Amino acid sequence: QRHLTSAADLSRDDALMILDTAEELARVADRPIKKLPTLRGRTVVNLFFEDSTRTRISFEAAAKRLSADVINFSAKGSSVSKGESLKDTALTLEAMGADAVVIRHHDSGAPHRLATSGWIGGSVVNAGDGTHEHPTQALLDAFTLRRHLAGGPGGSPVRQAGVTDPLPGDGTGRDLAGRRITIVGDVLHSRVARSNVHLLTTLGAEVTLVAPPTLVPVGVERWPCEVSYALDPVLPESDAVMMLRVQRERMNAAFFPTEREYARRYGLGGDRMARMPGHAVVLHPGPMNRGMEITAEVADSGRCTAVEQVANGVSIRMAVLYLLLGGAGPAVTAPAAPTT
Ligand code: CP
Repeated sequence: QRHLTSAADLSRDDALMILDTAEELARVADRPIKKLPTLRGRTVVNLFFEDSTRTRISFEAAAKRLSADVINFSAKGSSVSKGESLKDTALTLEAMGADAVVIRHHDSGAPHRLATSGWIGGSVVNAGDGTHEHPTQALLDAFTLRRHLAGGPGGSPVRQAGVTDPLPGDGTGRDLAGRRITIVGDVLHSRVARSNVHLLTTLGAEVTLVAPPTLVPVGVERWPCEVSYALDPVLPESDAVMMLRVQRERMNAAFFPTEREYARRYGLGGDRMARMPGHAVVLHPGPMNRGMEITAEVADSGRCTAVEQVANGVSIRMAVLYLLLGGAGPAVTAPAAPTT
């Protein structure tokens, strides 16, 4: 494929290739020199029309670790604020020779439009579009889950301090077959949830969405997952629980239930976490609303993988850029043997 706009487009083989390549690239972070020459001479543009901390910085770090030139474009402070269109912005980037455009946009479908318009010749990577999809977030979540629940390549290098009964990993697990993943919260506005439902089920996991009825999207019955309106019965059956951010900026004043009621019924605190199996971990894509969907006690506990997910995001984004831009040869070559 030339573009990555949707996790739904990824076959099982595509997803496993990205996860395995990311696993290989993750080892570069342990080297004294973390940079690879793989994308030298290529240009990656980060085109962000919406705010971001983790995604923008990790795409920049990923491109730089592969020796690509990076141009960061933020709509704030650009000619977008004077009314310039996506088309004219894209044509400007094309004139500068972008080999890949990483786009975050408030409109669902903007990355697809860019990929199919002919305005640019390079690859398009969706870094989050409206309430639609966030495929690299789902890939880094799957990478994190595979390390903890499948004993994936390299085993489970991070044993969470609060995990009392880790699943045995034989170092060969490549997918998430039979693992039960619960995704909790504001599914209605969550591109993370939609991409994860597609990708995790492609990798064999059984996904359950838990949300108040007002925060479940229309048409969810066609998604390949179960839906529950209650969290407590699902927790003991979950191998991992992914808490979603409540996206107050996308809601109108009629947010129901109230924030206090939401935290009481759907928030993850220490008491609820204790009902999870001993091996289960807690994911959060960030940014977190501490005290709303997750308490500080859980967020700061050894069972929460939020910080590990950020680190894994760099490896995943390196793998995506490497595979899309057709880096020559193996992703990682063995370090030169020391001379004696
Ligand atoms: N998870 C995520 O997309 O975070 P940012 O909005 O900070 O990029």
